[in-house]
Amino acid sequence: MADPLRLGIAGLGTVGTGIVRIVQSHAALLERRAGRPIVISAVSARSRTKNRPVDLSDYAWEDDPVALARRADVDVFVEVMGGSEGPAKAATEAAIASGKDVVTANKALLAHHGQALAEAAEAKGHVIRFEAAVAGGIPVIKALTEGLAGNEIRRVMGVMNGTCNYILTRMESAGLPYETVFEEARQLGYLEADPNLDVGGVDAGHKLSLLAAIAFGTKVSFDAVELEGIGRISIDDIRRAADMGYKIKLLGVAQMTGRGLEQSMSPCLVPADSPLGQLQGGTNMVVLEGDSVGQIVMRGAGAGEGPTASAILGDVIDIARGTRLSTFGQPAATLAEPVAAKATSPAPHYLRMELADKPGALAKVATVLGDEGISIDRMRQYGHADTSAPVLIVTHKCTREAIAHALSRLPATGVIVGEPVAIRIENV
Ligand SMILES: NC(=O)c1ccc[n+]([C@@H]2O[C@H](COP(=O)([O-])OP(=O)(O)OC[C@H]3O[C@@H](n4cnc5c(N)ncnc54)[C@H](OP(=O)(O)O)[C@@H]3O)[C@@H](O)[C@H]2O)c1
Repeated sequence: MADPLRLGIAGLGTVGTGIVRIVQSHAALLERRAGRPIVISAVSARSRTKNRPVDLSDYAWEDDPVALARRADVDVFVEVMGGSEGPAKAATEAAIASGKDVVTANKALLAHHGQALAEAAEAKGHVIRFEAAVAGGIPVIKALTEGLAGNEIRRVMGVMNGTCNYILTRMESAGLPYETVFEEARQLGYLEADPNLDVGGVDAGHKLSLLAAIAFGTKVSFDAVELEGIGRISIDDIRRAADMGYKIKLLGVAQMTGRGLEQSMSPCLVPADSPLGQLQGGTNMVVLEGDSVGQIVMRGAGAGEGPTASAILGDVIDIARGTRLSTFGQPAATLAEPVAAKATSPAPHYLRMELADKPGALAKVATVLGDEGISIDRMRQYGHADTSAPVLIVTHKCTREAIAHALSRLPATGVIVGEPVAIRIENV
């Protein structure tokens, strides 16, 4: 019988527990597929005495994940603790230095240190796999690095934070304001301890930066992702966008342009009848566009015990089979330094503003837009209150700069009440 592949699992929370459950319940199936048994040698977590929903009695215990990473009876170090620094980083570095392969679900760690870790692992002939770090159970890393390896990737897009999608779709279906649904999400345990990681777009930005590295052969550059969260999206925007045939999503877009690599994670309008527009609740969706294959849409659970552990096991089985891929689809030392470009590719925009009930108000707005080279595709004016009326405008393609400039000039017209809102439209 072939030698077993021995795992050391650091972290026994949602994901770690899920991995133990699959290894225990699917032992025969994993062995058939991997060609050798997959076993757990040792585990680690903060508290040894905590009650856990799986039986750990057969495994050695390490209080220190670094010690776990160095154990002689561990072939693959599975890092599912989380955090970009601290024990996750120290133990991953220790695993690589001790000649282990690494499987991780930790997008924060890789978004900040992926290049250095990949170079260190590859210099020693070891692999780091991270399917679980991006879009949970959706095998998007495999699709990009393997299935689509023959394509020049044109664009990568995705809704990759289930919590944000839950909040936006719940606001719409229940007609509730952002603050109420945010609180609901907190009560349900959907939010990270630091909610800004979710609603500020940071977590989804981490994931986008990892996909962009693979797609465009560039070093991970999370700092260059233009981030905007969902905090300013109002129930009014959601309703008005729906009237115009759109849904609002926290959408990541990465593309290589003549000016450099554009990466943005921000609220966007997408057509309501598009696959992205129809995405409900905590589900994730990734859209990949290659020059030969065209567009591919992948949809599934972006988080949770089962889906995330499923992705980890996919990576583990690859290692057991002897598949040894570079972390980012090509040797880390050959990844190019990306030139960061502002996401200025022209796109249609949705504008919402409150116009004072004055003669010629609309004409003044149209003049400012026209001066900035922004032409109007569609417009809708709503019945007004005593002094003002909401107006929605969908523009033809224009740059973010032109929109920003127009918005800065609108208050001087004297016909705008409150702050106008502009959201980019992605016609996908
Ligand atoms: N949950 C998901 O659906 C999901 C999806 C995709 C990716 N991920 C990623 O997977 C990783 C784990 O997430 P999770 O949801 O499973 O987290 P979690 O439920 O909070 O579990 C974290 C585990 O790590 C252990 N831990 C934390 N600090 C430690 C330390 N200093 N030393 C040893 N052990 C330590 C904790 O120990 P105690 O149990 O003793 O406190 C706990 O068992 C994160 O990188 C996360 O971003 C999670």
